[in-house]
Amino acid sequence: MSNIIKLLPDSVANQIAAGEVIQRPASAVKELLENAIDAGSTSVDLIIKDAGKTLIQVIDNGAGMSAIDARMSFERHATSKISKADDLFAIRTMGFRGEALASIAAIAQVEIKTRPHEDELGTCLKIEGSTLMSQESCQCPAGTNIMVKNLFFNVPARRNFLKSNTAETRHIIEEFIRISVIHPDISFSMVHNGKLVFKLISGGFKSRIIGLFGKAYDQRLLPVEQKTDMLTIHGFIGKPEYAKKTRGEQYLFVNGRFIKHAYLHHAIVNAFKELIPSDAYPTYFLNIQIDPQEIDINIHPTKTEVNFRDIQYVYAVMLAAVKQSIGKHNVTPTIDFTVDPSLEAMLAQRPEGEIKQPTITIDPDYNPFKTKSTVRGQTGTFSRSSAQEWQKVFTGDIPGREEKDETFPQGEEQPETEDSQGSFYLLHSKYILTGVRSGLMIIDLQKAHARILYEQFLEQLTGKEKPSQQQLFPHNLHFSPGDAEIIRSLKDDLVKLGFVIETLGKNGFVINGIPADLLETDVEAVLEKIIENHKQHAKDLDYDKNIILARSMAVNASIKPGIRLSQMEMADIFNRLFACKVPEIAPDGSRIVTIIGLTDIEKLMKM
Ligand SMILES: Nc1ncnc2c1ncn2[C@@H]1O[C@H](COP(=O)(O)OP(=O)(O)OP(=O)(O)O)[C@@H](O)[C@H]1O
Ligand SMILES: [Mg+2]
Repeated sequence: MSNIIKLLPDSVANQIAAGEVIQRPASAVKELLENAIDAGSTSVDLIIKDAGKTLIQVIDNGAGMSAIDARMSFERHATSKISKADDLFAIRTMGFRGEALASIAAIAQVEIKTRPHEDELGTCLKIEGSTLMSQESCQCPAGTNIMVKNLFFNVPARRNFLKSNTAETRHIIEEFIRISVIHPDISFSMVHNGKLVFKLISGGFKSRIIGLFGKAYDQRLLPVEQKTDMLTIHGFIGKPEYAKKTRGEQYLFVNGRFIKHAYLHHAIVNAFKELIPSDAYPTYFLNIQIDPQEIDINIHPTKTEVNFRDIQYVYAVMLAAVKQSIGKHNVTPTIDFTVDPSLEAMLAQRPEGEIKQPTITIDPDYNPFKTKSTVRGQTGTFSRSSAQEWQKVFTGDIPGREEKDETFPQGEEQPETEDSQGSFYLLHSKYILTGVRSGLMIIDLQKAHARILYEQFLEQLTGKEKPSQQQLFPHNLHFSPGDAEIIRSLKDDLVKLGFVIETLGKNGFVINGIPADLLETDVEAVLEKIIENHKQHAKDLDYDKNIILARSMAVNASIKPGIRLSQMEMADIFNRLFACKVPEIAPDGSRIVTIIGLTDIEKLMKM
């Protein structure tokens, strides 16, 4: 058989190699901007035409190149940034492969004018499809001015695969943001088809974000600052209430290089858990400064992926840093809960006999969700609800909240009539509806109760609140040896939650008392859920036993569908919900409360 393997001609080999580095105009923009940064520029201008398909030009005031370097820079694997294998683990520049310019020159018509600051004359060089067309000395400003024309002119198939100008421009803007946002000390501009898109003066990180994303971001950002022996995390996160339903404002950098890292993204999102709905994405701009020896950046042709030597450590620091930033600024969602009396009157459902006058005596230990008698909580926000307190809800004076409803004069006694109290309507045994000043508030009953219980259980677990208990006719339970071990390890916590629990033989337990909020019939299911959640999450890096326990308990003990509630019981839920730290979000991260604005209601009525 004759030999069939042949070496590809250089032109074809170059195009194939270029395909890895340059997939679309935005990739060329990225490479050229990175080169300008590596050259130590303090000012970088990007000019594009027709979404980069006709022209991509980058003008910098960096180091410039000598005539020989200018020619060399277009050779494959020609770089000034590394010279030996070890250097790959000491990379402090954006580039290191010596491939970008060679790739661009293989698939476009390139003109470059470049001059080192110390030289009087610069070099002007033209290359088309890897072929040198001309090279001569020329007058030009210090720095480098590179024009990439007609990208993919010799690869029609690639050119045909490009998306619409709008889509390609979006990609370019994204690359421009990724690079400019993390280099606030450098001035940047971007002009598209003669129009100025961005003009960014040098300044701090925050003002750069504002320059790119708008003034509104001034109020939306929280600083993040964390320093350990191994790394520094610095940047900003968006306040939880500004989390968006669409991805896109997640910017993670390692030593000033934008990277994609699903695991670290998870750490950041985890820190926002329970503060944002599960389908929302937090905004972040975070830079990890780390010794290059601790990372490997040479794992992907576009240099947007990084391997960390100790990713578990970086994850833990990232999680802690973001959590701390959220905590320090004491962020809790704000909500409009001042009541509009006319609307609430309209919405009130008042079947005969259901409304009680606030003068009635109320049993403070009353548990609205149990038919059996219980010995409810001795202390704490949750057991304090009383007629007086829930009335305040409708005068805007909500416990733990500072907002006041100006429509109700404070200090003046409210007439104790039905109309001055909050009115609630229970929709399909699932949602509580009530009028608030800005519209109609809808509360998911089961989730609201889960949130109330969750915070109550957390307080009990941290010893801040004593458990309330109900006595039980002893229940004997048996578990597998592994599960019994888990129950034994959680015994002290279960006691804090209100369980009276004793061991019985090797893998058995006697339950003599349970938390007041739990139904007797749910005991076994709750313990099984606790075991299951414990097994599932114990390996998580951010495993927090108290959170898992409180969540398992809250979800199981919360109101079941089909319940009927009186006005007072609904007011009690409302009152206790808004005394919570995070009243808007359920323990599983989903939304509890929503408000349909008056204008939206008006619009609906006009349809
Ligand atoms: N704007 C510029 N100013 C000064 N020198 C430049 C500029 N652009 C490129 N160079 C020089 O040309 C060389 C080749 O650039 P090229 O982008 O091809 O490779 P690189 O940046 O070294 O690595 P990578 O392929 O990872 O980008 C660089 O190492 C640098 O010395
Ligand atoms: Mg480069």
